[in-house]
Amino acid sequence: MRKALVAGNWKMNGRVAANDELVTQVLAGLNAQVDGVDVMVFPPSIYIGQVKALSEDRLTVGAQNLCEFDDGAYTGELSAEMLVDCGCGAVLVGHSERRLLFGDSDERIAEKVKQALKAGLVPVICLGESLDQRDSGETLNVVSRQLQAAVEGLTKQQLMTVVLAYEPVWAIGTGRTATPEQAQEVHAHLRQELAQLDTEVSAQVRILYGGSVNAANADELFAKPDIDGGLIGGASLKAKDFVAICQSAAAR
Ligand code: PGA
Repeated sequence: MRKALVAGNWKMNGRVAANDELVTQVLAGLNAQVDGVDVMVFPPSIYIGQVKALSEDRLTVGAQNLCEFDDGAYTGELSAEMLVDCGCGAVLVGHSERRLLFGDSDERIAEKVKQALKAGLVPVICLGESLDQRDSGETLNVVSRQLQAAVEGLTKQQLMTVVLAYEPVWAIGTGRTATPEQAQEVHAHLRQELAQLDTEVSAQVRILYGGSVNAANADELFAKPDIDGGLIGGASLKAKDFVAICQSAAAR
């Protein structure tokens, strides 16, 4: 069975003192109560060093974004190699907020995935439909297109490394979660798409659900066969809730 994975996306939240408290409490909770789950945290990049120093190898620290280019004249950007240099093990790619607010296209996302893999980072590739797309029956086509664009040209070994996160845009930060059945339908579809590339890849790649996951709804989401854990936004900023979600993943 695939090992469960819970990832906390802090988005643009945090301060030095608050990060210290959050990470310390999360670690205490995980060490006391949770086994058998991989846990990642994605703080704002400026705090990666701080969080890495606190994380005791129990947490994989990642960045929320990376540049699609190698080091060079790209003011304001961070390269994959810099992220590795500062202790990152993973990076979010193609989060819907990046797609919608910062113009990350399918093509740019594909470049970012390649940069991440080249540097040895695990890319957590985010996919998901808008409400309009869901209402017009486009969901499965949209996620298929996003997936194909993001993984095109990758080797089998590279494909084995990636993590997918299905995050319906209408469920992010809205308190409106996809039902476990809605999520499972899309996860199963993504797994089938992977199977067309390679059955071993399909069996191994972890597919997370994201979008208003909280301590109360995590159990039923993670009970679905193709949901291997969660990408958690708001609830990852509360240690108790985040640890409870990790516990749900461990119990699945
Ligand atoms: P949310 O965010 O849990 O606050 O809905 C999830 C995400 O955007 O990764």
